Amino acid sequence: MALTDLFSNVHLLLRWFHVLAGIVWLGHLYFFNFVNVPFQGTMGADVKKSVNPQLLGRAFWWFRWGAMATFVIGLLLFTQLYMYQPGVGFGPSELFRANGAMTGRAVWILFGMTLGTIMWFNVWFIIWPAQRQILPAVRDGQPVDPALPKKALKTSRLNAYLSGPMLFGMLAPSHYGGINVVTAVVAIALGLFAIWWAIRISPSVGKL
Ligand code: HEM
Repeated sequence: MALTDLFSNVHLLLRWFHVLAGIVWLGHLYFFNFVNVPFQGTMGADVKKSVNPQLLGRAFWWFRWGAMATFVIGLLLFTQLYMYQPGVGFGPSELFRANGAMTGRAVWILFGMTLGTIMWFNVWFIIWPAQRQILPAVRDGQPVDPALPKKALKTSRLNAYLSGPMLFGMLAPSHYGGINVVTAVVAIALGLFAIWWAIRISPSVGKL
């Protein structure tokens, strides 16, 4: 690999930035689900009023922009790898289609991208719109419509669960390849189990 190999260098940079942004996004998602949810129950209204808008306002900034960067760079990566052929132009590459059929690699990444896109949608169109109403209301001591935190929590939990199988969909294309019903079911089951287990072992106050 040489520095003059533009395709490979762009590829590595996109991959690196995609994973970096994904860590920022999922790191905050896990902070919300594994740390913040059990922590919120320990605070009184006064402490919430001074802590939440300051702390969570910052956390939600990184969370939503991490999600946006991961998504946009993921789409660029997909275009470069699967919808572009160097020297030929745009269109399905050999990674996408071989011998007249979609490759296992493409099925894996489409599986991962579908889950990732649902998660990105949830961040930008459900969780953040709810939080941008909740946080100022808490800061100003105004009543919060109880449906809003419920909706935000449910969607955030859903995203946490989806992230387990989604990561298999990100890693399997270039590190595994083949896909069939058994491998897909195992990936989904392991992914869901890992998140269920993490939520289950998240320490409550008494166990710290
Ligand atoms: C939001 C929608 C997402 C899209 C459209 C997307 C797209 C992609 C694409 C096209 C690839 C390259 C697959 C290949 O090697 O054939 C990839 C790889 C990867 N993605 Fe995503 N992704 C998304 C979300 C995420 C998230 C949330 C993470 C969390 C960290 C993530 C982490 C990764 C990792 C670790 C790789 C593999 C890197 C490697 O093995 O070199 N992706 N993604």
